[in-house]
Amino acid sequence: MILQVRDMKVRYGAIHALHGIDLEIAPNEVVALIGANGAGKSSAVKAIAGLLPYSGEVVYDGAPLRPAGAERNVRKGLVLVPEGRGILGGMSVEENLLMGIYSRPDQKAAQADVEAMMERFPILGERRHGKASLLSGGEQQMLAIARALLARPRLLLLDEPSLGLAPKMTSFVFDLIGSLRRDGLSVLLVEQKARQALKISDRAYLLETGRIVASGSAESLANDDVVSETFLGGRVQAGSENTQHR
Ligand SMILES: Nc1ncnc2c1ncn2[C@@H]1O[C@H](COP(=O)(O)OP(=O)(O)O)[C@@H](O)[C@H]1O
Ligand SMILES: [Mg+2]
Repeated sequence: MILQVRDMKVRYGAIHALHGIDLEIAPNEVVALIGANGAGKSSAVKAIAGLLPYSGEVVYDGAPLRPAGAERNVRKGLVLVPEGRGILGGMSVEENLLMGIYSRPDQKAAQADVEAMMERFPILGERRHGKASLLSGGEQQMLAIARALLARPRLLLLDEPSLGLAPKMTSFVFDLIGSLRRDGLSVLLVEQKARQALKISDRAYLLETGRIVASGSAESLANDDVVSETFLGGRVQAGSENTQHR
C-alpha cells in the first residue's frame, strides 16, 4: 500500500468533521472518495497532505507521517491539488508552473520538465506569459494539475477537480486523471460528481458526515442499490453484492 489511513479523526473546535476513518490506496490505484457537501472530504485530504491536525495514523510508503508536515510530504511525493485549485491568478501561467518545482532538488531537469509540461498541455504553452486568472476554469484546473505533476508526485490528492467546470471540460479533466494511472501514479480523487468519478476509479469510499459508510470496487459501488438510491441519484444497473456497508 502507498497510503494507509487508520482511525483518522479531525475536528474544528467542537465540530467533529471526521469520526475515525480508515482507507488505503495501493500503488498505481485511482481511488475515489465521494460524498455530499460537508461530508468531510476536504478535511480528509487536507489532513493526509499534512495541512490539518488529526488524530490516528497516516502511513505513507511504509512510514508514518507526522501531522502538519505538508512541505516535507511534498518532497516525499505526496501532493495535494486543493479545492479551488490554489492558482495564483495575478501571476503568469509559467510562474504558476515554476511554483511546482520549488521542492525539486534537480532544478535543471525540473526546468526542462516545465517546458515539457507546456508541450503536453499546449494551451498552457500558448498562455505562458499571460495571467493565470485569464484562463478558463477548466484551463486553470489543468494548470493546477500540471503544477502538481511537476512536483513529481507518487500519490496525488485531488479535491473536487471538476467543481464549477462546464461538462466538456469536466470530461477532459476526468480523462486526464484516468490517464495518470498510465504514468504510474496513485490518485485519491475527491468528488461530488460521483458517477463520473467512479467511472475512472478502481475503488471508492463513500463518506457521510465524517464516517465511511460504504466501500468497494468502483463498479460495485456504482451498481449498488443502497448507494445508488441514496447518493448517486437512482439505479442504473442490476445490484451488486460486492459492496461493504458499515
Ligand atoms: N475551517 C473550518 N472551521 C469549522 N468547521 C469547518 C471548517 N472546515 C470544514 N468545517 C466543517 O467540517 C465539516 C466537513 O467539511 P469539509 O471537510 O469541507 O467537507 P466536504 O469537503 O466533504 O464538503 C462540515 O461540517 C464543515 O462545516
Ligand atoms: Mg470539500
